[in-house]
Amino acid sequence: MKTLFLCWVVAAGSSAWAAAAPTTAVIEPGKVWLDTEGRPINAHGGGLLHHRGFYYWYGELKEGRTYLPKVNKAWGGTRVLAGGVSCYSSPDLGAWKNEGVVLPSVAEDPDHDLACENVIERPKAIYNARTKKFVMWFHQDTPDYAAARSGVAVSDSPTGPFAYVRSFRPNAGIRPFNATEREFAAGSKEAFIRVLPGGQMARDMTLFVDDDGKAYHFYASEENQTMHVSELSDDYLQPTGKYARIFIGRAMEAPAVFKHEGKYYLIASGCTGWEPNAARSAVAENIFGPWTELGNPCRGEGADLTFGCQSTFVLPVAGQPGRFIAILDRWKKWDLEDSRYVWLPIAFDHEGRPQIEWRARWSLSAER
Ligand code: GAL
Repeated sequence: MKTLFLCWVVAAGSSAWAAAAPTTAVIEPGKVWLDTEGRPINAHGGGLLHHRGFYYWYGELKEGRTYLPKVNKAWGGTRVLAGGVSCYSSPDLGAWKNEGVVLPSVAEDPDHDLACENVIERPKAIYNARTKKFVMWFHQDTPDYAAARSGVAVSDSPTGPFAYVRSFRPNAGIRPFNATEREFAAGSKEAFIRVLPGGQMARDMTLFVDDDGKAYHFYASEENQTMHVSELSDDYLQPTGKYARIFIGRAMEAPAVFKHEGKYYLIASGCTGWEPNAARSAVAENIFGPWTELGNPCRGEGADLTFGCQSTFVLPVAGQPGRFIAILDRWKKWDLEDSRYVWLPIAFDHEGRPQIEWRARWSLSAER
């Protein structure tokens, strides 16, 4: 825990708090990454937001003993008590200041959605320019992951506090617009039809805001076998009811979505819990699909198991179109608190496919 993960340098003459601060951080994927107070950053399964010259990193606060709840014995779903959502801020992606727990878990009420025993995972926050609110979505669940719900919280400030709104299963009573007659004919055999009245199962998730300000919720649904992409209302607080099934039966989770030269890209994992598997990538002209799979984007030693990691987010570097960072978690199944962050640059090959190459150490300034 003592190793310094990241050194940072601010280019001479520039203010650390300037709007387009230089990204000269040196990143050592998989090493312990310390915040500005010298403590390991604790923000797992996270997502980042760039707002007014600062990056905000939101993630799962995973503190304390890792245990295996009885209800998860069959599949090895280890846990720590949920600590809520932590937030760190940085002007340059190098120095991260701990902004504290912006959505705390609830210790005193075991029936609360945010009870410590419950699951609070994969938080993502976006800014709504109309309402001027920061809106957070996350995976809310019971300890056995059976509830499969989406949680929503809202704040006036990127550093919180976020007020918890509610949890629900998205798109209750509404059919996915791209479902075929044959799928409907299969009736209750199809998971999305079976759960229709109460809403769709939603576990691993991400949010994506398009150039026109419309936001979308991607979530692993249908017992994690099929993903959904679901349009959000103008205030980003709920689904509009327009949603599509994508990657049908492909068992993809940990989605991360970005846009490059007018096309949508997705990086995701297979479905093996905390154990790593080969990452997936895909491209689409339309956010609702069809999505074309492009295979494992990882290259170099350890690529077949995503360098021991699982995707969580793709960060567009502010003010540098075409430049993206793949943000991955290297989970430690039996010591979840000490799970590590692996950040790697995304390049594009001559056919425009995203590539993530292993680097033990790299500098944001040297990547171009
Ligand atoms: C993974 C998922 C994680 C977490 C974990 C629990 O498949 O991506 O976010 O839910 O399972 O075992």
